[in-house]
Amino acid sequence: MYCVRKVTEDLYWVGGNDRRLALFENIHPIMQGVSYNSYLLLDEKTVLFDTVDWSICRQFLENIQEVLGGRTLDYMVINHMEPDHGACIEEIILRYPNVKIICTSKASMFMYQFGFRIDGKVTEVKEGDTLSFGKHNVVFVSAPMVHWPEAMVTYDTTNGVLFSADAFGSFGALNGKLFNDEMNFDRDWIDEARRYYTNIVGKYGPHVQALLKKASSIDIKLICPLHGPVWRNDFGYLLDKYDKWSRYEPEENGVMIVYGTMYGNTEAAANNLATKLVEKGITNVVMYDVSKTHVSYLISETFKYSHVVLASVTYNLKIYPPMLNYIMDMKALNLQKRTFALIENGSWAPQADKLMRELLNEMKEMTILDNGMTVNSAMKEDDKDSIDAIADSIIESMK
Ligand code: FEO
Repeated sequence: MYCVRKVTEDLYWVGGNDRRLALFENIHPIMQGVSYNSYLLLDEKTVLFDTVDWSICRQFLENIQEVLGGRTLDYMVINHMEPDHGACIEEIILRYPNVKIICTSKASMFMYQFGFRIDGKVTEVKEGDTLSFGKHNVVFVSAPMVHWPEAMVTYDTTNGVLFSADAFGSFGALNGKLFNDEMNFDRDWIDEARRYYTNIVGKYGPHVQALLKKASSIDIKLICPLHGPVWRNDFGYLLDKYDKWSRYEPEENGVMIVYGTMYGNTEAAANNLATKLVEKGITNVVMYDVSKTHVSYLISETFKYSHVVLASVTYNLKIYPPMLNYIMDMKALNLQKRTFALIENGSWAPQADKLMRELLNEMKEMTILDNGMTVNSAMKEDDKDSIDAIADSIIESMK
């Protein structure tokens, strides 16, 4: 059975939701599912903006058939060729053999790489090219590395709709609600939106900044991303989040304590520090056990907070492996501009501080506070002064 939503008088959402998939990209847990958005415009020509993941193809085809109402499909604009959006291109061609594909040259190259049979069907477009579908005129705007090199966005100059590809997307299935003003985004969606952005697009901050600059010069009435809600008001909220994330500026002055513990002794030091911070008036403190928290959540929270405490046991003379994985992911995603305090633990040869410090120093604009702490097996009464000093130096650096 089809399930569609009207976006404007002649534009329909024809995507779908996947609540069965456990891991997006086979990496990131999606407890609240994910939506794959596709949009169908009924003008003098009929135009499909992107396809969907293979997992929801049947729903997608039913949706298109319903909205077309017996018409054929004239164009398929492919803004992004990653298979969570491009998987159904060939299926569309099979159903609508006269459809023309509009995409960048790189997207066309990727279609061949993925083995799609698209000979004679592709019209390549580049930055600034325009096309008319009847009443609606669109301009194509390149958006390289947001989040693949072939990506573009399409702006409808007739009604101000921006088809923004991966930009402004979010994890989370759409539970009947499509528009941002039908949901409490700041309460129910922002954490998954941040986790989506930071883990999927986070590495490419400068490219997102370039796209935001282009977006600031056009009059946007609707943002139609490939995942999550369609935005039709409150753009300032969304653009502010994207601006901060892509400049690697923290959203909040606060302390995220991430600890790697084997028998609870490093955790005890982390608990003592958290308690001390709160006693001294810093209540915006969150704590995560690195072994029990998927790294995608850790990355998302690290983008959110200004200060990070890494408390790691030494393991085989190295950083505790789950902590190492987290730090390496931080590095891979180009995270910058955070202030760190370090706590290490070791029973005979503590190494974690030195090794964590080396990795953090390889990243951009990371500050490591002088006051750190070495726990020898378990925290003692005498160590309380060190905890106190770490808390003071964090508070001082927040001023
Ligand atoms: Fe949702 Fe980069 O694909």
